Amino acid sequence: MAVQRPKGTQDHLPDGSPKLSRDSQASAFAHVQDTARRVLERSGAQFIATPLFEEAELVKRGVGGSTDIVRKEMFTVYYFGDHGGYVLRPEGTAGIVRAYLQNGLKQLPSPLKLWTHGPMFRAENVQKGRLRQFHQVDYEVLGSTDALVDAEAIWLMWEVVRELGLTGVRVKLGSIGDPADREAYNAYLRDLFGTHVDRLSDDSRDRLERNPMRILDSKSAGDQALIQELGVRPMLDFLGEEARAHFGVVQGYLTAWDIPFDLDPSIVRGLDYYRRTAWELHHEGVGAKSALGGGGRYDGLAAQLGGPEVPGIGWAFGIERLLLALEAEGVALPQMPGPLLYLAAMDEENVGLAARLALEGRSRGRVEFAYRAMKPGNAFREADRRRALSAAVIGSDEAARGVLNIKTLGTGEAREVPLSELTTFLDDLSRQAGEQA
Ligand code: HAM
Repeated sequence: MAVQRPKGTQDHLPDGSPKLSRDSQASAFAHVQDTARRVLERSGAQFIATPLFEEAELVKRGVGGSTDIVRKEMFTVYYFGDHGGYVLRPEGTAGIVRAYLQNGLKQLPSPLKLWTHGPMFRAENVQKGRLRQFHQVDYEVLGSTDALVDAEAIWLMWEVVRELGLTGVRVKLGSIGDPADREAYNAYLRDLFGTHVDRLSDDSRDRLERNPMRILDSKSAGDQALIQELGVRPMLDFLGEEARAHFGVVQGYLTAWDIPFDLDPSIVRGLDYYRRTAWELHHEGVGAKSALGGGGRYDGLAAQLGGPEVPGIGWAFGIERLLLALEAEGVALPQMPGPLLYLAAMDEENVGLAARLALEGRSRGRVEFAYRAMKPGNAFREADRRRALSAAVIGSDEAARGVLNIKTLGTGEAREVPLSELTTFLDDLSRQAGEQA
């Protein structure tokens, strides 16, 4: 058998590919990215790209030592040398905050809005929507603690979803408070679960030591049953005055802007850097346990990485999960449009002329040509397969007279176009196609 792609990865394939069931269509993938780009750039977010691998230390300090990501899911990159090791980035936030600190981005107008997209890597147990290499669109704002920034971040996520045409999305909103609030909550949880250690899973026993809040996020059925039975109080009950007031303002804006949300009093999130506002977007097409996207505030992260205090907030969508949701809702996604014109030559002497005309025509849009001479019937069939809007076959007679006999494939109508008017013809075709789209 030929070599297969690694488990937990996907190919993103061209339109019309025969086996799309476990993969995605690259044009749909690009449509999601483009939609996010449009929405984010309108808000003033600037693109940033950071390396796909980072120091292991960055991820450990940033994402946090008590998370599944750091404890079980890191792809470590081995290489020669005395070094703590690199990891393939499991998420974008830690790298972006590192880049902000390292490159003095504090000097740019604040708050600074950044966005990126790209592959992320987590050695997960693979299932529907849970991959080892997946892609995120990521938005980050650095330099403000203002609750209005939180509300705008959630609004932007909602706007991406709306522009994509998804309707079945729920926002689950919570707050995980300030560090002192979390400490109080963790002390409560340590006491509560401490008397039932024997019933906790091995992982959760370990979490009890490191970060008891993580027990609430456990995937073990036994742990979840215990959580239900004990009637664990939610994090929201433990919010201090400031975090509570901040959270109230965020909710006030969202309500005023008609963004529907459900309060989720026990939201945990899978990363340690969060403070205060935290949320997830969910969709039935992705499955109850998996989020379409999520985010939160991370005011302590910059200092955790060794920099000054810089407040931050952000979110990320999983592109593959957005595609699952779009598929579940049956939203029609645009394919890459076919060429305006497909050009072929009837004989070898005119192949070069067809190519030159096509290359010139590309100043007006997509134009393709045949690399070998073709019979007209074959050329029109080929044009059809490529979903070309029009096609022409050049013979010596057309070449001598300086014209093209162009057939519009939708109507079958043919028209003689002087070569000097080819660009005008292509412009008209492009305009008509735009009007019909
Ligand atoms: P996260 O919740 O770990 O947050 O991931 C965000 C999104 O990435 C998830 O909601 C999901 O759509 C997608 N995702 C995560 N893991 C997988 C996977 N194994 N397979 C497929 N998709 C996946 C973060 O990564 C934070 N950095 C978000 C953030 C930015 N917070 C503040 N700024």
